[in-house]
Amino acid sequence: MLKQVCSFELSIECQYNYQVVVKFDMPSTCNVSHLIVDLVTHIGLEAEQHGGGSEVLVRAWDSPAARQITLNPPKKNSTGDLYEDGLCILIFEPLIGSDYSEIEFIKRGSFSLKELEALISALKVAGEKDVKGSSGKGKKNTPRKGSGQRSKHIPSMEKIISDLEAMGVRVYGFDETSSIPMDGTVIWENLAGYEPQKREIEDTILLALQSPEVYDDIARGTRCKFETNRPRAVLFEGPPGTGKTSSARVIAKQAGVPLLYVPLEVVMSKYYGESERLLGSVFSLANDLPDGGIIFLDEVDSFASARDSEMHEVTRRILSVILRQIDGFEQDRRVVVIAATNRKEDLDPALISRFDSIICFGLPDQQTRMEIAAQYAKHLTKSELLQFSSATEEMSGRDIRDVCQQAERHWASKLIRGQVPKDEKGEPSLPPIDEYVSCAEQRRKSWPDRTRWTSRSPALKLA
Ligand SMILES: Nc1ncnc2c1ncn2[C@@H]1O[C@H](COP(=O)(O)OP(=O)(O)O)[C@@H](O)[C@H]1O
Ligand SMILES: [Mg+2]
Repeated sequence: MLKQVCSFELSIECQYNYQVVVKFDMPSTCNVSHLIVDLVTHIGLEAEQHGGGSEVLVRAWDSPAARQITLNPPKKNSTGDLYEDGLCILIFEPLIGSDYSEIEFIKRGSFSLKELEALISALKVAGEKDVKGSSGKGKKNTPRKGSGQRSKHIPSMEKIISDLEAMGVRVYGFDETSSIPMDGTVIWENLAGYEPQKREIEDTILLALQSPEVYDDIARGTRCKFETNRPRAVLFEGPPGTGKTSSARVIAKQAGVPLLYVPLEVVMSKYYGESERLLGSVFSLANDLPDGGIIFLDEVDSFASARDSEMHEVTRRILSVILRQIDGFEQDRRVVVIAATNRKEDLDPALISRFDSIICFGLPDQQTRMEIAAQYAKHLTKSELLQFSSATEEMSGRDIRDVCQQAERHWASKLIRGQVPKDEKGEPSLPPIDEYVSCAEQRRKSWPDRTRWTSRSPALKLA
């Protein structure tokens, strides 16, 4: 029935958690305020006095990603939960170059007769021409923040950073005017080995951030319609502790732009609609940064796993925000998304297809393990480092660092207890190779199953 009244593309999905989602593209001629009044009129209780109007409990959120409203008839609300049973409506901004907004109706359980009537009416309204708008009397779509209108007031860098920090986003690589100073340890030299990965990162991300004009000039010369050719999203894939986060920090520092680290717990909010709103704000604020920035989405598999797996509704919405934001990056901005994952196989294919490059951080080979060990145990001889690298097979850079730290602590406690002698000058001696090897063995014993990582090739794979 719904499809009959609709002159444009309509999709109806029933999700595993008994949610029905009806969505369609709204032509830009649609008058959104008219649509909302129409929905409320259909769903609300008719107000007894004065004849006109309807009563309905409305909650609304506005974010750069979507406008969201939930409508509940007032009677139903005795539970105190405003939106558990309500009809949720999401209106997504048109993407750059699109004449359509997307509207989604989400309902847990089934749609009531009233709600179905409201939907049919909404479809009709969406298809109508906005007479007021076309006659030039009223202005239809007011420009919204983050929607591509650069005439808006852009807040200062400090304000943007403090807004991001207030949301739980960690901002790295900002200069001394910031509350978070530059970290002197964030340099490639502190990340031993991984030369092909470093080179690939520099080629794909750094150069485009440092010299965007070169890329844009080429695109202007080659494209009929200008469209940026700069990379927008890159995936770092590999086991934990192999230097993905460290690499993102180095690149941000080299490019002289802030790295916006979005921790998982910030994204996975328990409040309905909050996660998408937050993520949308992060993208919007990043777009406002004068020299751009890097948005780092760590553990992206946790909120962007494949659609066909039993995924939570929140996950689906977050993924949809990420996809839209990557697609809709403003052309004149220098914003790059770096996503990191331990489980690329679990990622949604739609997300994987957005990445301009996939950089694989495998577990370090023996030579790299020696180089990493040399960073954390510089007093060991070459042959001792070789011995240590054999004892740390299948370990990541982080494991090796932790083993070294453990060896130092053990040795310190032995010195303090007088169990081992000081050196010939009476100074505390340094831990010998045996201490490192025994700590590595201890760590290996306490390992969880690691077969997933070891079955992989440590070599660099690039997409
Ligand atoms: N190649 C390496 N050389 C030196 N230290 C390393 C290396 N790889 C990892 N580490 C150490 O492990 C820590 C954690 O690495 P990180 O970048 O957080 O890994 P990931 O993001 O892949 O989990 C780093 O801060 C660093 O101390
Ligand atoms: Mg990490």
